[in-house]
Amino acid sequence: MNILGIETSCDETSVAVTHHRKVLSNTTVSQLIHTEYGGVVPEIASIEHLSLINEVTRKSIKDSGITLSEIDYIAVTNGPGLKGALLVGVNFAKGLSAANDIPLIGVNHMEGHLFSNFIDKKQIVYPFLCMLVSGGHTQIWLVSSYKDYKLFSNTVDDAAGEAFDKGARMLGLGYPGGPEIEKLSKFGSIGEFNFPIARVKNSKFNFSFSGLKTSLYYLLKSNKVTEKDYKNIACDYQETILDTLIKKLVLVSDETGVFDVVISGGVTANIRFRDKLDQITKNGLYNIHYPPIKYCTDNAAMICIAGYEKALNSETSDSTLDIYPNLMMDQ
Ligand code: KG4
Ligand code: ZN
Repeated sequence: MNILGIETSCDETSVAVTHHRKVLSNTTVSQLIHTEYGGVVPEIASIEHLSLINEVTRKSIKDSGITLSEIDYIAVTNGPGLKGALLVGVNFAKGLSAANDIPLIGVNHMEGHLFSNFIDKKQIVYPFLCMLVSGGHTQIWLVSSYKDYKLFSNTVDDAAGEAFDKGARMLGLGYPGGPEIEKLSKFGSIGEFNFPIARVKNSKFNFSFSGLKTSLYYLLKSNKVTEKDYKNIACDYQETILDTLIKKLVLVSDETGVFDVVISGGVTANIRFRDKLDQITKNGLYNIHYPPIKYCTDNAAMICIAGYEKALNSETSDSTLDIYPNLMMDQ
């Protein structure tokens, strides 16, 4: 089965072509214009998607080595994400679908991240835990089978990626903040600055990152530190976010008895995170997977792979496909 996938939920314009779970092409343009503003500007994102989508699609089809007539389905992200940005992708997909008589599949962006772990895999073995750590989400789901998702952990305030982005801004670094903090941390050492791992009232599984952000704010405002300390601060700030993620993951594994884990979303690109996860697999209990770095941040290949799962389950859409900016993974 050949799928053409379209992803425009935020600031990446991406189109991919897959055959079953194999990626034939994946063209992603990251809209660098947002760096000037220190974060994604929704109106600019929509305009950029509009001007890029045609050419990105053309290139991805060309790179795939197959033609549009050989595509069985068009899979497109229809939520969650920025309203205008989603509209560009969905309307483009609808036009392509109608003009070429190719059935349409609406895909949940978060399910895309989940299924990014199965790119190039022959089969999917359930159950497993799925940790989603992106700019908008920090969640742990128990995935018992396709579409049987149970939410165990969620953030009560900021997402992990957002904590990276906001911390980076306070340290005078660029956007997106995760890679910037990771880079600066490489020059620093761990243990000089103590940031708290937040306890969340009434749920030991949930995440909270707003206290961490506030701690950083007051530390930088105090006269205890200078710019020379920033590399060590970045190091401990990053360490606290990653330790928080791992602590909650261990709690959910212990609770559910499930130690097969897939990790997805932009923060999964963090090498220190991967190293720390590798350490906990050493006791032989855990089996932790994460996608190749290029499929951690937003991309259309993951939308194809999730679309493939939907097609196998006969879940197609039609020309009434709508956008859902606040779509949850189990909707
Ligand atoms: O999954 P994603 O590309 O978009 C959303 O769906 O949100 O995730 C983007 C987030 C940003 O907050 C970015 O700072 C973070 O992922 N991120 C990282 C790294 N690369 C991207 N965070 C930590 N370390 C990284 N290397
Ligand atoms: Zn994403």
